[in-house]
Amino acid sequence: MVSITVNGFEVAVPEGTTVMKACAAAGFDLPSLCTHPDLKVKDNCKVCTVEINGELKTACSVDAVNGMTVKTFSPAALKAKIDSLKKILQVHPQDCLNCARNQNCELQTLAETFIIRDVVNKPFLQPKDTSTPSLVRDPSKCTLCLRCVEMCNDIQTVAALEVVNGIPRTVDGLPLIQTKCVMCGQCALVCPVGAIVENEQIDEFLAAVADPDKIVVTQIAPAVRVAIAEELGMKTGSLDMLKFVAGLRTLGFDRVFHTNFTADLTILEEGNELLKRLKTGGTLPMITSCSPGWINFIETFFPDQLDHLSTCKSPQQMFGALVKTYWAEKMGVDPSKIYSVSIMPCTAKKFEASRPEMNSSGYQDVDLVLTTREIGKLFKIGGPDWEQLEPSQFDSLLGAYTGAAVIFGASGGVMEAALRTVYEVVTGNKLEDVNFNMVRGFQGMKEAEVDLAGTKVKVAVANSLGSARKIMDEIKAGTSPYHFIEVMCCPGGCIGGGGQPIPSTIAKKVERIDAIYEEDAGLPLRKSHENPEVVKIYEDFLHEPLGHKSHELLHTHYHPTGK
Ligand code: SF4
Ligand code: SF4
Ligand code: SF4
Ligand code: FES
Repeated sequence: MVSITVNGFEVAVPEGTTVMKACAAAGFDLPSLCTHPDLKVKDNCKVCTVEINGELKTACSVDAVNGMTVKTFSPAALKAKIDSLKKILQVHPQDCLNCARNQNCELQTLAETFIIRDVVNKPFLQPKDTSTPSLVRDPSKCTLCLRCVEMCNDIQTVAALEVVNGIPRTVDGLPLIQTKCVMCGQCALVCPVGAIVENEQIDEFLAAVADPDKIVVTQIAPAVRVAIAEELGMKTGSLDMLKFVAGLRTLGFDRVFHTNFTADLTILEEGNELLKRLKTGGTLPMITSCSPGWINFIETFFPDQLDHLSTCKSPQQMFGALVKTYWAEKMGVDPSKIYSVSIMPCTAKKFEASRPEMNSSGYQDVDLVLTTREIGKLFKIGGPDWEQLEPSQFDSLLGAYTGAAVIFGASGGVMEAALRTVYEVVTGNKLEDVNFNMVRGFQGMKEAEVDLAGTKVKVAVANSLGSARKIMDEIKAGTSPYHFIEVMCCPGGCIGGGGQPIPSTIAKKVERIDAIYEEDAGLPLRKSHENPEVVKIYEDFLHEPLGHKSHELLHTHYHPTGK
């Protein structure tokens, strides 16, 4: 341990702790625009400048050493902080009222905290990049922190971004859609400002609910419920699901369903696909296909390995296909009138919904995708009083779910849900303990071996594209020991999706994961094949997993992007 003095208070911290963290331990949080709790020190913005033994230094870049004296609020330290902020603000567009990050922007907050009122503003305006359906890049607002570059290039290993003369840009300055970008939105999650944001489509939703001819239906993805509470200023996971349903009805949704229903259905289809491949010598390892950022990644970087993917569509797209066929037929509704909106933790889902092949219902299966952040903004306009709101049930046929579907939102959840069902199908025995703890947790790679009536099945879970790349390199080299692999694009799984509340730090993601497993543990049904509405759809419509109708509506093919 080392002992230092911060503003006259002594604090002991482990060796190797930065002055910034030591100051926080002493109760003095320092401003920062480039350093992020989960990323490497950047030392770019200089707004964390303090006096260390009488000299001005950035607190994020210096380690605490015994006997050090730090002043965070001396006149010189304060002036240095303000000067650094002003330097950024002089060239930053004063566009807050038009900005997706208004009221959740690190720069805006610091400008107010340090009472900066007198900046002469000469922004260098550059065109916005609106080339993808998922994200909008506004380089004029970039503070040059380089958080996005580390996220894209080092953690996701996509390398759609590069740095030229200290300035981040897309590779070769191309529109984002022409780069290898997979639209995961992880750059938007770490950006301190509105320089990369989700493509907001709130106006399209408002136009749909204003149209009396449209039946506006929605599905909520499993990772959304735990995180939406954060957008509303509540504790992670604390918004009751049925109040959430009631809240969505106040926004104008005519029917509220759950993506959990098709998550359970995915397990039936994907589990049977795995068993078929194991029995018939099909391509192994089989890899899950729920995560559209991951699909974009394999289609771009490993186009000769696409046979390893399960042919299942994602739960979002299965739902889209079923609401305009099965539900419309059973309810006697004209499918052309259905406007299907997904509420997702994910920016890549906006791209997935727009893929031309996602029209097996005869219409575009999903019409609009709103992220958790966008639905949070809508709730702020709509303003339901959550205390007084009476809970409301999901609509039937596509609304029932089990705990197995709930855990789809966390890394390892799809694998665990599949194992709960596959075990019972193969062995014919009841699975007493449904908790597969070895595939849970935040770490990038997890593995397990499961005994299925004498057959040892090796499984692995990868979250983040950096981990997925390692798995794919092994498969390509022919050295992969696994039969079944879950890949999720975003670190932590969908609870850390690019459309989730900001901040989405590892600490926040761990809280969301805990809330997901707590919900699963409290549900009466925890195995997908026990979902009564899934049983019913096979009886009344699909007839059998991997059958003709399933192939038509629930399965797809993947294509090399040629990028
Ligand atoms: S990025 Fe922040 S400071 Fe800049 S316009 Fe948007 S809200 Fe305002
Ligand atoms: S969306 Fe993902 S892949 Fe695209 S630039 Fe951002 S981090 Fe990179
Ligand atoms: S786009 Fe955002 S995250 Fe990337 S360097 Fe600019 S301000 Fe930082
Ligand atoms: S936070 Fe220290 S230089 Fe940016």
